[in-house]
Amino acid sequence: MNLLITGGTGYIGSHTVVELLKLGHDVAIVDNLANSSTQVLPRIEQITGLSPRFIEADICDRAAMDKVFSENAIDAVIHFAGLKAVGESNDIPLSYYHNNVSGTVTLLEVMAEHKVKNIVFSSSATVYGENNQSPLVETMPTSATNPYGQTKLMIEHILFDLAKSDPEWSIACLRYFNPIGAHESGLIGENPNGIPNNLLPYVAQVAVGRLAQLQIFGDDYDTIDGTGVRDYIHVVDLALGHVKALESLDKIDGCQAINLGTGNGTSVLQIVEQFKQTAERDIPYQIAPRRAGDIATVFANAELANNLLGWQAERGLVEMITDTWRWQSQNPNGFE
Ligand code: NAD
Ligand code: UFG
Repeated sequence: MNLLITGGTGYIGSHTVVELLKLGHDVAIVDNLANSSTQVLPRIEQITGLSPRFIEADICDRAAMDKVFSENAIDAVIHFAGLKAVGESNDIPLSYYHNNVSGTVTLLEVMAEHKVKNIVFSSSATVYGENNQSPLVETMPTSATNPYGQTKLMIEHILFDLAKSDPEWSIACLRYFNPIGAHESGLIGENPNGIPNNLLPYVAQVAVGRLAQLQIFGDDYDTIDGTGVRDYIHVVDLALGHVKALESLDKIDGCQAINLGTGNGTSVLQIVEQFKQTAERDIPYQIAPRRAGDIATVFANAELANNLLGWQAERGLVEMITDTWRWQSQNPNGFE
């Protein structure tokens, strides 16, 4: 297939591009490098022996996107491009609504003009809000507690309405749980700007000595050890979920939301313990107050992905942490 990958130089995008190139797909990436760098491109080539076409462009720039679709044959789009920091979205909500929501509308309009009506969208488990009990099922009510989550929810609504209006569209909204890990080569991985917001990159930077200690946000939740429980999923499993979603688009009637998770929950302390064992390093930590907006337990019911896409996560926690550590220890300063 001829594929356009928006946000393809980012964390999940770059891992997905690797899997797509390995399968012989023709890949063009559009990214404005807001949260990534072109240094990932030679790494992708080192892993696959192939190089994707790279176009530096903003999905909000209609003329640039029109040019991309005019100059490249495209059968389907995987749409990763977006801003993703929950805390930052509270401070600069308009940037989030503009970039994520308006950018997606522009992308969809240009796609429609060029009669490309197949899209896989990066949604998030954040759309389940605070009031559902895990395991989370796709049919549960959705809500959002911050501007970032609102953008994902709004885009899902836009995609559902679009599919309803025109049966030619095939749309998969993939609701990711907590992606971690890195490619087994250690050549690509998550490379956050500044101090990481998410648990795994934070722990990895403590282990490698870039950060002094981890703050554990709350140890009084109603969970196995009092710390927050999440459904961590290996980024390569997630990437393979996108491949399956693409292959299944013709089976999808309109727009379908699909969880990509493992169905298993792991606590913060369990992560820390496993990381210590894998990295053979101490991970100093301090118990800190709960983080606003966090809930105790989030994990997926992953049956729909299995039934509809024939996909399930295959990599366990030890592999996720081993690969995170390989990436972090081989690239202590990311791609720099
Ligand atoms: P990332 O920041 O590494 O990748 C996103 C990419 O999009 C970056 O390369 C960035 O430069 C690019 N981008 C941002 N705005 C753009 C624009 N206007 N035009 C062109 N490119 C633009 O993030 P990621 O972790 O790879 O996440 C990919 C997608 O998955 C995002 O939409 C994110 O919201 C979603 N998601 C991520 C997680 C997670 O925990 N990582 C969880 C759920 C959903
Ligand atoms: N945590 C800490 N210390 C840290 C960072 C995190 O104790 O420094 C804890 C959190 O309290 C939570 C767990 O580690 O219990 C995981 O936190 P993350 O920030 O890694 O992940 P979240 O589940 O909070 O959020 C992630 C993405 C969001 C997405 C959400 C969907 O970052 O973008 O999953 O479920 F919306």
